[in-house]
Amino acid sequence: MLARDWFYSERGRIGLDALVAARSAIYDHDDSGSRARATLTKLGVLPGWRIADIGCGTGTLACEAAKMGAVVDAVDIAPAMLALAEIQARDSNVAIKTQSAGLLSFAFEPGTFDLIVSEFTLHHLPDFWKAVALSRMFRAIKPGGRLFLRDIVFVSAPDGTERGVEQWAEFNIKNHDFPRDDVATHMRDEHSTFGWVIERLLTEVGFTLVSADYHAPLHGTYLCHKPAAAEPRMQ
Ligand SMILES: C[S@@+](CC[C@H](N)C(=O)[O-])C[C@H]1O[C@@H](n2cnc3c(N)ncnc32)[C@H](O)[C@@H]1O
Repeated sequence: MLARDWFYSERGRIGLDALVAARSAIYDHDDSGSRARATLTKLGVLPGWRIADIGCGTGTLACEAAKMGAVVDAVDIAPAMLALAEIQARDSNVAIKTQSAGLLSFAFEPGTFDLIVSEFTLHHLPDFWKAVALSRMFRAIKPGGRLFLRDIVFVSAPDGTERGVEQWAEFNIKNHDFPRDDVATHMRDEHSTFGWVIERLLTEVGFTLVSADYHAPLHGTYLCHKPAAAEPRMQ
C-alpha cells in the first residue's frame, strides 16, 4: 500500500482531548437535547433511518436520533468525546454505535445513510480537505438522502483585518460567552471559511443545495440533497 505521506493528519487535535472533554459544558447547554430533537423533527427523521453524526461531540444529537428510532453511528476524532457520548447513551437508555475516526477516515458502506449530520466540525479542516470530507459524506449517503451541515463560517469578507476580524471576535465573546482565548485560537489556528466557499464545495462534490441560512456574522446552516440518480461511487 502507498505511504500516503501527503494525507492530512486530522488527529493532530487529539492532544486537546482532555481539555475539550473537561470543557464539554460549552457544547452541552441545558436546551441542547430539545434543540437537537427539533432539528431532527424538521428533517423528518423516521424510525429505522440510518443516521451518522460526524463530529458528534458528547452525543446529544446522536442520542436524540436514537430515541426517535433511528440507527445511529456517532463518529468523533476525540476518544474522550466518544466516552461522554457512550455515557449519555447509557443514561438515555438508547443504543448508538460509536466510531473513533474523523471526517477523513470514518468507515462506511457506500450509499447507506438516509441522513448525515455534521455540526461545528468541518472548520477543523483546511478547505481542500473539507472537499475531501464532503465528497466522502456524499458517497456514504443513499441516493435521495440528505446532509445537514452547520458550522462557523464567515458571511462576508473582512473589511480589513482589524475591523472585520475584531468585530467577529467581539460578537462571539458577547453572544456566545466564549473566552477571548478560544475566539483567538479559532481565528488563528482553525479553518473557518466563507459561506460561499462551503456552498460551492457542496455542489462541486455532487449535492443539490436545498437551503443555506446565515445567522450573521458567523453561523451557516446547509441542507443538501443527494440526487436520486446519483450512483454511489467506490471509496
Ligand atoms: C465544537 S464540537 C461540536 C460537537 C457537536 N457536533 C455539537 O454541535 O455540539 C467539534 C467536535 O468535532 C470533533 N472533531 C474535530 N476534528 C474532527 C475531525 N477531523 N473529524 C471528526 N471530528 C472532529 C471534536 O472532537 C469535537 O467533538
